[in-house]
Amino acid sequence: MKKIYLYGNWKMNMTQEETEGFYKDFVGQATPLAATMGKTLEVAVFPPFTSLGVAASAAKSLVSCPAPILGAQNVYFEPKGAFTGEVSIAMIKDVGCTHVILGHSERRTIFGETDKLIAKKVKATLDAGLVPVFCYGETLAEREGNATFDVVSRQLRALSALSPAELEKIIYAYEPVWAIGTGKSATSAEAQEVCAYSKRLAEEMGARSVTVLYGGSVKPDNAKELLSMDAIDGALVGGASLKADTFLRIYKGYAGI
Ligand code: PGA
Repeated sequence: MKKIYLYGNWKMNMTQEETEGFYKDFVGQATPLAATMGKTLEVAVFPPFTSLGVAASAAKSLVSCPAPILGAQNVYFEPKGAFTGEVSIAMIKDVGCTHVILGHSERRTIFGETDKLIAKKVKATLDAGLVPVFCYGETLAEREGNATFDVVSRQLRALSALSPAELEKIIYAYEPVWAIGTGKSATSAEAQEVCAYSKRLAEEMGARSVTVLYGGSVKPDNAKELLSMDAIDGALVGGASLKADTFLRIYKGYAGI
């Protein structure tokens, strides 16, 4: 069975108390999967900055199953200084993060992040030894205008200054914007097509092989079909990752547990 990456992007949800509650439920849900975690299943959660501290402490107290990997949802590339409202890579590392989501479509569209800025963040993250979870994907208008592959190619090629070894360290997350938070997931064939294209492109850029997740309305009931596709290595899950039960059912549905 292939290894599945199950990553939960909590977005602007979950207070500290709710985060503690998630970890309590997680133990019950994940203990039966303890033997697969870290082997055929890799679980990560990306709480908001204010909940990273409690998530890290809750993770330390998990005994009957491995804790999920901890990541942040964003970071700034400068090491320190006068950047009001921003958080540095050293700061998220200090609180226990090993991963960070970069280039999410909500950052690109609502907060105006450009390919160039995102590439700087990816480079700084790699330099610090953290894993960037690099998101990209087309809007509905771009898909309807047959521009999906051009857009995806532009977004991925923004990373072309990276070395092959650096490109291989990134976890890629193809997230068509029209499928995020809409309940309308891409079909498994649509997701497979773009994920396979992304892998070919990363190879053209010099990587030997890369990990590509699909994101956009992944839920327990569509997980099996999506995760069974050979170019899809896992899921970046938003809404369905806020409850440990629903989140882990995405993997259980796939694995038939
Ligand atoms: P969704 O979000 O699962 O709620 O569609 C996915 C994401 O934005 O990462």
